[in-house]
Amino acid sequence: MGLISQYSIDAVISANDIVDVISRYVRLEKKSSQNLFGLCPFHDEKTPSFSVSPGKQIFYCFGCHKGGNVIKFIQEIEHLSFPEAIHLLAERAGIAIEESEEDSEWRDKRERERAAAEALLEAARFYHSTLESPAGLEARRYLEKRGVDQVLRRRYGLGYAPERGDALQNALRERGIPANAMLDAGLIARSSRGESYYDFFRHRVLFPIIDARGKVLAFGGRAIREGGPKYINSPDTIVYQKGRHLFGWPQAVNANQRTWFLVEGYMDVIALAKAGIYQAVAPLGTALTTYQARSISRHVDRVIILMDSDRAGREAALRAQEIFESIDVPSRFVLLKEAKDPDEYFSKFGCERLTAALSRSLDKTEYRLALLKTDADSVIGVPSSDYRNQAINILSKENDGVKREIYGGRLAKELQLNARVLQNEIERRRASSSEQEETAPVPGPPGTAINQPRKRVSTRLKGSELFLLTLLTFDHTLAKLRPELSESKWSGYMVPDEVKAILLSDEAARPLSPDDFNSEFMRLLAEEVIGGAGEGELTLAALDAQIGNTRARLAEKDSLPQDETGQEKTDDELHAMLMRLHLEITDSRMTKEEMKEVFLHRLALLRIMNWDTKARYCIQEAHELELSGEEKKAKRRYAEAASLTMAAQTYRMLIQGE
Ligand code: UTP
Ligand code: MN
Repeated sequence: MGLISQYSIDAVISANDIVDVISRYVRLEKKSSQNLFGLCPFHDEKTPSFSVSPGKQIFYCFGCHKGGNVIKFIQEIEHLSFPEAIHLLAERAGIAIEESEEDSEWRDKRERERAAAEALLEAARFYHSTLESPAGLEARRYLEKRGVDQVLRRRYGLGYAPERGDALQNALRERGIPANAMLDAGLIARSSRGESYYDFFRHRVLFPIIDARGKVLAFGGRAIREGGPKYINSPDTIVYQKGRHLFGWPQAVNANQRTWFLVEGYMDVIALAKAGIYQAVAPLGTALTTYQARSISRHVDRVIILMDSDRAGREAALRAQEIFESIDVPSRFVLLKEAKDPDEYFSKFGCERLTAALSRSLDKTEYRLALLKTDADSVIGVPSSDYRNQAINILSKENDGVKREIYGGRLAKELQLNARVLQNEIERRRASSSEQEETAPVPGPPGTAINQPRKRVSTRLKGSELFLLTLLTFDHTLAKLRPELSESKWSGYMVPDEVKAILLSDEAARPLSPDDFNSEFMRLLAEEVIGGAGEGELTLAALDAQIGNTRARLAEKDSLPQDETGQEKTDDELHAMLMRLHLEITDSRMTKEEMKEVFLHRLALLRIMNWDTKARYCIQEAHELELSGEEKKAKRRYAEAASLTMAAQTYRMLIQGE
């Protein structure tokens, strides 16, 4: 690929105002005198932390720390390389790129892509009009039989590929599309003897795969008659790569909903559309890829996974959940009973029941329990002792203590067992499995860590905690800010008195304190930093030095042998992180007011995390009390845990404006 001249890069940047460009993707609002804010398109959020500076022509997200100029934005959002982004921006602004000799290869590639895209668009038009013409009668009958009317056919641009092996190529040739473009587009293939071509799709109903900008990329073709593969899909081409796109994409984006459905097949997307739900997408004949999940994540707050009910579908569903979890997208499941997929469900039970079923989503533990139950109730059956055993195993893997208790309670009722006995067994297995797997133990409440062997804190946690401390180096008066959680804020919600008490407690309303931090290291660092900030002399250099000091202090206390290499690396990591955070904050040119807001928001998140941690600790203690027969005390601890969890949830809701 050739070089693009610096002159052209500059021209592209100045021809594309960053606010105009980003406004196509993000709704921006003016919140301060200098910057615009909106919901970040790169991560899941409910309060805007994505900022655009018209003056500096840069964007920056305070949540996920993505930032850069207009080219960087296009690279990220369209998944393009640097030169690709430049070409796209040049095209949009109608300016020519100055191309050196070396650019010819690149120009050829662009030209081939353009020609292939044109061929695909013409093909989609041809297939669609054929479906609606007399030649499409059999295909139309087939679709009508499956409940797909003309409105839906048009909405999803469905088509019909005639049986003749040259119907498409003849039609496209008439429209001036060269055979090479059709080949590049995967629409035709060379015959084995090599002298002629045949159409790739023959006598099939076609589902076009379209991107958000309305470009046709590929097709999936459903056989109308028995025999041969049920579906065939376009091969990978210069404009289409498997695992990067999803069927139903433009319809889902246009539906403007923040909860999307992930289904298995083309007909499932259509089935949901029959019920008026257009925010459904299907990966194309492959398992969901991380790439696809990331694309989805930019449009949603959560995803509901609705796969076929066979074994492959269940596995795909659990795998999809893992993928979403790995990129921090919350997801839930819907399990359809008495039908293999949403399409069959709709045909059997109709619109209302499908809609009702879709509204009953399950979390991972509930889903796995429901699957187990379905198996147990099925013809094959599962012996009751196995059922109980497996259900307890599933429950013991649930990380949320409150959920373990609630679902455990349900199971106890169902099996007519003593709830406490069952609960104990769940916790016992949980403890023994965590010993075996050496998974990170549940962190203790603040203050207890000193007596425990030192563990490495996750860098992610340290990142957000360090962020708070770094903000103090910009404005040490932030250290005195108190979050305000006045009662009027949750006036519209049902908040029990115990929860209210927590939300209004001194602890919730005091300024940032070392107790807010989760690891001993961060606690010690915070002690020094907040102290320094109080004296008004906290600088970046001081904070940097304190990281080293704190290490030393901790090492002195620690009687355990040290892992020198690990420690050095952690120090380095922290230094790097500190510098990065500092640059990001500088770059973003936050005003004092914005800094205050971000600081309070982060502080609130920290409190929420601490309450959650405390709740887990309470539950652990409650279980121990139960084991030693002190039921009353145990009950109190459970109640405390529930209040803490609810307080955390309420607070989260208040700051996210959910
Ligand atoms: P299914 O076999 O569940 O198809 O495959 P379906 O959607 O229920 O199809 P109908 O209702 O019988 O028409 C789910 C998805 O897997 C891919 C397709 O994307 C399909 O929608 N698939 C399936 C293929 O790519 N090739 C095949 O031969 C079968
Ligand atoms: Mn299916």
